[in-house]
Amino acid sequence: MLLEFNKIYNEDCLNTMNRMEDNTIDCVITSPPYDNIRNYNGYKFDFCNIVHELYRVIKNGGVVIWIVADATINGSETGTSFRQALKFMEIGFKLHDTMIYYKNNPMPQTGNRYHQMFEYMFCFSKGTPKTFNPIKEATKFRGLANMKNRGKEGSLNYEKIERTSEKKVGNVFMYSIGGGISTPDKIAYKHPAIFPEKLVKDQINTWTNENDIVYDPFMGSGTTAKVAELLNRKWIGSEISQEYVEIANERILPYLQNDLFKQI
Ligand SMILES: C[S@@+](CC[C@H](N)C(=O)[O-])C[C@H]1O[C@@H](n2cnc3c(N)ncnc32)[C@H](O)[C@@H]1O
Repeated sequence: MLLEFNKIYNEDCLNTMNRMEDNTIDCVITSPPYDNIRNYNGYKFDFCNIVHELYRVIKNGGVVIWIVADATINGSETGTSFRQALKFMEIGFKLHDTMIYYKNNPMPQTGNRYHQMFEYMFCFSKGTPKTFNPIKEATKFRGLANMKNRGKEGSLNYEKIERTSEKKVGNVFMYSIGGGISTPDKIAYKHPAIFPEKLVKDQINTWTNENDIVYDPFMGSGTTAKVAELLNRKWIGSEISQEYVEIANERILPYLQNDLFKQI
């Protein structure tokens, strides 16, 4: 690969991917700019070519976690997220899992729609995902079982048992967001649309193993870089805005240099 690991390239992600060999990336996690909902210093992106390039550079069994929602324009939600999902499938990806990123505390909205509480978190895979380390939660089984003895009048006495086991969680992931919650790094909030770190941590842990390569083509404030670094993954980023690259580099510097920070 003609790129260094653990570096954010200040360029259009298509240029970064052009220098990647086929089948090199284990996992992409990203939130692209969508529906011009925010003006990221005026940058646009070439969706179709980006998806083709993602398909080329992802390893067989690798996944793309693509986090998007729709803007509402002229009284209608745009449907961009659906159209994008269908395009990924047309190009060859499998739509492996349509997960939901649910915001516990979204921005309240006025108007005749319910509050927008979620974004789609599509998992597109190239073939069958090669890694799946599901997040688990405890299940408790409570019930009557194991006949203990017979009561005086011949009634049956059962002992109460309680068993704990684990099951994988559902595909709706709930996160609180906002100042001081999405990340403790104050500088990150100079970017208008940051991921909660916990979301990135959950996704990287699920779909990759240590030393795998994680790529974020729209790196923004550097959330994917920071979390991948702390989880001992190799990572690469692209970000077209020089201002955001500077913010991201300043944000992640302490985590790159000091193992003491390797806790998340
Ligand atoms: C939604 S933000 C990503 C935020 C990021 N997930 C975070 O946690 O900070 C999208 C980013 O994509 C960048 N961008 C837009 N077009 C791009 C392109 N063609 N190549 C690389 N980056 C681009 C924007 O400047 C913006 O910072």
